[in-house]
Amino acid sequence: MNIGIYGGSFDPVHKGHIALVRDALASGYVDCVIVVPSVRNNFKRYSMTLPAPYRYYMTKAVCDELTESGKLDKVYVCDAEFGIKGISYTFMTLEIMTDPEYMTEFLLEQGVKKKKAEGPHEYYWIMGSDTLGTFETWYKPEEILRHATLLAAERPGDGVDVEKAAESVRENLGGKVETFRLNGFECSSHEILSSGDFSSVPDAAREFIARHELYTGRTKLTGVSDDAKERFFESAVWMYPYLGEKRLLHTLNVGYLSAELAVRFGADPDKALIAGALHDCAKELAEDSQKEMAAEYSGDLFTEKKLLHAPAGAIFAHDGFGEKDKEILDAICYHTTGRGGMSSLEKIVYLADKIEPARQYMDLSPIRAAAQTDLDEAVRLTALAIKGKFDRQGRQTHPATVDMLRDLGIK
Ligand SMILES: [Fe+2]
Ligand SMILES: [Fe+2]
Repeated sequence: MNIGIYGGSFDPVHKGHIALVRDALASGYVDCVIVVPSVRNNFKRYSMTLPAPYRYYMTKAVCDELTESGKLDKVYVCDAEFGIKGISYTFMTLEIMTDPEYMTEFLLEQGVKKKKAEGPHEYYWIMGSDTLGTFETWYKPEEILRHATLLAAERPGDGVDVEKAAESVRENLGGKVETFRLNGFECSSHEILSSGDFSSVPDAAREFIARHELYTGRTKLTGVSDDAKERFFESAVWMYPYLGEKRLLHTLNVGYLSAELAVRFGADPDKALIAGALHDCAKELAEDSQKEMAAEYSGDLFTEKKLLHAPAGAIFAHDGFGEKDKEILDAICYHTTGRGGMSSLEKIVYLADKIEPARQYMDLSPIRAAAQTDLDEAVRLTALAIKGKFDRQGRQTHPATVDMLRDLGIK
């Protein structure tokens, strides 16, 4: 097969991206297009606004919707860059993806027939005409050209002489370059974010953005240090192999909301961001591992299956991610049960876990309203709601929760 690979930050994915994929397929150069959301930016550390899993799953939601509705076929989304340590350069992404075993397995997972999936394959790196002009300044361009032909989109009226740029790459680097005409939709992620007009974002992405309340004041992480932001982005990539989509996005949402609550209620937003983001990191580990880790952090305090992941998470965050801060680890440990004498940080993570935007298990509006002004009241309402649920189910209240309820004046 001739495989087109289209990398980018997709922050957010928009109709211009889709038009480019459609025109690349229509050009006849490629039989399919694999979209690869970047994990870490090569150029500027914080030029991407969302951690990689959000951008990956948002792009996937759009491509799945296009495929299911029959609007576009043979477009796939690939998580190849999640496996790269440090900055992901294009040649590294290509090195992974052009490995015959990797590509065959990936295509089979997408439902491509065995004979086609097994290759042989030719690879095309799809890019805009503007980026072709700067290609020679990229890191290790010869390595890129060793793996792939460049396939540059020619945008009418953008003032770039694509043929001249292509000729220069051919002459100076000896690579293969082809071009195709872009008929599509003119827009950019930057314009969408600066104008706040999301009309050129496909419906599936708009729904995704609304569900998680992305690109809002909260996700700007005002009041959070650059170091904590970087650690947050890294935690998202670290947790990716251990958690499914729903759980991973939930735990990251809790990070965002915890940071916002910390700013509002005078706690440390850096610690809140990391504690919130990591709080469910151990939730999908094998039960035996969870048991072992839970015992290591808190002895025999937590033995019920549903509660194990919280103390286990403290150990996993420490050993797996290198989180050393005891206040953060405690906030992770007590996020399910609470405890007596909770710190503000612990209350914040406890609360954010129950009310982050994607949570819909009951009418949360009174608690969300209280969380605008009064942390203790919001925690009290949350604890009351949970106690009510436990009482109805005839479940026993954990001793740590009993202590928290006593602190809150709940009998
Ligand atoms: Fe949890
Ligand atoms: Fe959670």
